Amino acid sequence: MAKELVAASQLDAIIAKLDIVEVISEYVALKKNGKNFKALCPFHEEKTPSFIVNPEKQIFHCFGCGIGGNVIRFIMAIENLSFPDAVMAASKKAGIQLDISGYKPADEEKKARLIRANEVAAKIYRESLFSPQGKRAMDYLFERNLTEKEITHFALGFAPNSRDYLARQISEKKLNKEDFVKSGLLNEQSTDVFRNRIMFPIFDLQGNITGFGGRGLDDSVLPKYLNTGENPVFNKSRLLYGINWAKESIKSKKFVLIVEGYFDVLKLHSNGIENCVAPMGTSLTDSHLNFLKRFTDKILLIFDSDEAGIKASLRNLDSVLSRGFETKICLLPVDFDPDRFVDEYGIDAFKKMMGQSKNFLEFVLTVESQRNDINTPKGKSSIAKEILRFVSLIPDEIEKYEYVKILADKLNLKETLLNTYLKEMVKTEKEKGNGGEIKRKISSPNDLAENLLIEILLSENSFWNQLAEWKGLLTKRMELIATTSKKLLANNINITPANLISKVDQDTGNWISEILVKTGTNLPEEKKQQIFQDCLKKIHKFCIWKQVGEMKQKIAEKKASGISYNEELVKMQGLLFELKKE
Ligand code: UTP
Ligand code: MN
Repeated sequence: MAKELVAASQLDAIIAKLDIVEVISEYVALKKNGKNFKALCPFHEEKTPSFIVNPEKQIFHCFGCGIGGNVIRFIMAIENLSFPDAVMAASKKAGIQLDISGYKPADEEKKARLIRANEVAAKIYRESLFSPQGKRAMDYLFERNLTEKEITHFALGFAPNSRDYLARQISEKKLNKEDFVKSGLLNEQSTDVFRNRIMFPIFDLQGNITGFGGRGLDDSVLPKYLNTGENPVFNKSRLLYGINWAKESIKSKKFVLIVEGYFDVLKLHSNGIENCVAPMGTSLTDSHLNFLKRFTDKILLIFDSDEAGIKASLRNLDSVLSRGFETKICLLPVDFDPDRFVDEYGIDAFKKMMGQSKNFLEFVLTVESQRNDINTPKGKSSIAKEILRFVSLIPDEIEKYEYVKILADKLNLKETLLNTYLKEMVKTEKEKGNGGEIKRKISSPNDLAENLLIEILLSENSFWNQLAEWKGLLTKRMELIATTSKKLLANNINITPANLISKVDQDTGNWISEILVKTGTNLPEEKKQQIFQDCLKKIHKFCIWKQVGEMKQKIAEKKASGISYNEELVKMQGLLFELKKE
C-alpha cells in the first residue's frame, strides 16, 4: 500500500466524515474546555494538559511538543503509520471504500523523489561492493567480522575512489541529476560526494533509504564518517540508525539499547541483539526520544567508560530522564565500543555486561564519587546535589520520591532533607522556564503577520483569491500554502483547515494547527481586508530584509577571500531601493 495513491476528493471525504473528537477519544481521555477539548499529550510526557482538540476546525495541537494537524496526522502519529497507511486506516473508521489512484501531497512527491535517488545509489554502491573493485572494502568488512549474508542484509555498499563513479552511472541511466544533488549524493558540479567509503544506507521506519553514512576505507580519508547533509528526508536529529530493523524487537523486549556507532548496531544485530539503534554522531534529541516513546519507555545507554563516553552519557541522561524514560547505563571498559567488545570477548560476555548495567542513580553516584570526596561534608553535598538535579528532571512524582529514598539510603542522609532540597530545585527550574511545561515562543513581527494571514484565510474563503493574486514575496511556508491553495481552488475544492493540512508537510501542518487552536483574535470584519493586505506587505519586506542579510554575508565572504563583489553590491542597492518603496 505504501506507494499507492489516494484521490484528493476521497481524502477530503474521509476527513469530512470523521469527527476528530471521536477518533482521538479512542486513544486519549479528552475533557471539555470551552469550545475545545484538552488532554495530557499522548506524544510527550507532561503533567499539565497542553494537548488541545478543536472540533469546529477539526484539528489538534500540542503546545508542549508542537505536534498538530488533522485527523489523518493524528492517526499517523499515534498508530505510527505512513501517510498512505493512515489514510487507509482512516477510511476504515469512516466506512469509506478507498479508490486508490492519483493522489499524493506535493511535498510527499518531492520526498519520494529523494528516496528514489537514494535507493538507486544504494543499488549502485552495493553492486560496486560485490564487484572486483569492491574487493578491498569487502575484505575490510570480513576483517570486522561481518558475513556476506549480513553485508547483504544491511544493504552495505562501496563508493569507489573516483570523482564521478556514481555521476557516470546516473548519466548512463539518464536519471535526473537534480534529485541526486538534492539528496546530497552529488555536488553541484555533478561530482560524487562519497568517495573511497563503505556505504551504510540509513533507513527510516518504513524501510525507505533516506541517506547514507560513509566510512572512509583508509585512515587517510577524512572525516572518518561522512553523513548525508540535511535535506527534506534526512534529518539527523530525528533519524536513528537501525530503527527499521529494531522496531519489532524494541516492542517485544520492552526496551531499547542506544549505542554510538554504525558498526555497533550491525555487530549487535548480527549477534541477535536487535533492539538496538544509534544516533548519527549527535546526542539524543527530543525528536529522537519522542519517536522512541512510541515503542518503549525504557532505555539502556551503552558507552565507553573513557572521559568522552561518560560526558556523552551524562549529556544524554538529561534529555532521557526529562522525557520520562526509565534509564539504565552500561559502561564498557575504556576504549571498547560494543563492536570491539563483541569481537574481543564474544556476545555472551557482552550480555553479561548488559546484565550489570546500573540505573541512572547508581551511575551518577559512581561518576560523582570519583569527582568528589564522599567522606567530606562538602564532597557529599556536591554529590547529593548533582544527583538531585537529575532526579528533579523526572516527570513522574512517585518515581522521583522513590529515587530520593534510594539516595537517602545510599548517602546516609535524611529523606526529608533531600526532599526539601528537591522541591526548591524544581521550583527554581520552573521559574527559569525549564520546568518541561509549556514554553512560550517569542514571536517575531513576521510570525505575527503570517499567523494573522492564516487565521484570516481560514476564517473566510474569499481571501484565498487575494493570496493567489499577490505579486510580492512570501516566506517558504506561505509560498507552499499559496501554491497548495491555488491547486485546490482550481479543482473547486473547498478549503478547510483539515483538508489544507493534509496537503502540506508535517512541520507546516504543526504550524497551521498551532495558529488555529490559539484563542482566535476575533478580528472585526471590516478591518480584515486592511489587515490582510498589511500582513502581505509586511511579509514581503521581511523577505527582502532576509535577502539583504544573505547578500551582506556573501559580500563579506567574497571580501575576505579577495574576490570582486560588484555584482552583489548592485543587487544590494536594488534590494535597499525596494525597501524604501511603499
Ligand atoms: P566513532 O569514532 O566512535 O566510530 O564514532 P565507530 O562507530 O567506532 O567506527 P569504527 O568502529 O571506528 O569504524 C561513533 C559514531 O559517530 C559518528 C558516526 O555515526 C559513528 O558511527 N561519526 C563519527 C560521524 O558522524 N563522523 C565522524 O567523523 C566520526
Ligand atoms: Mn568502533
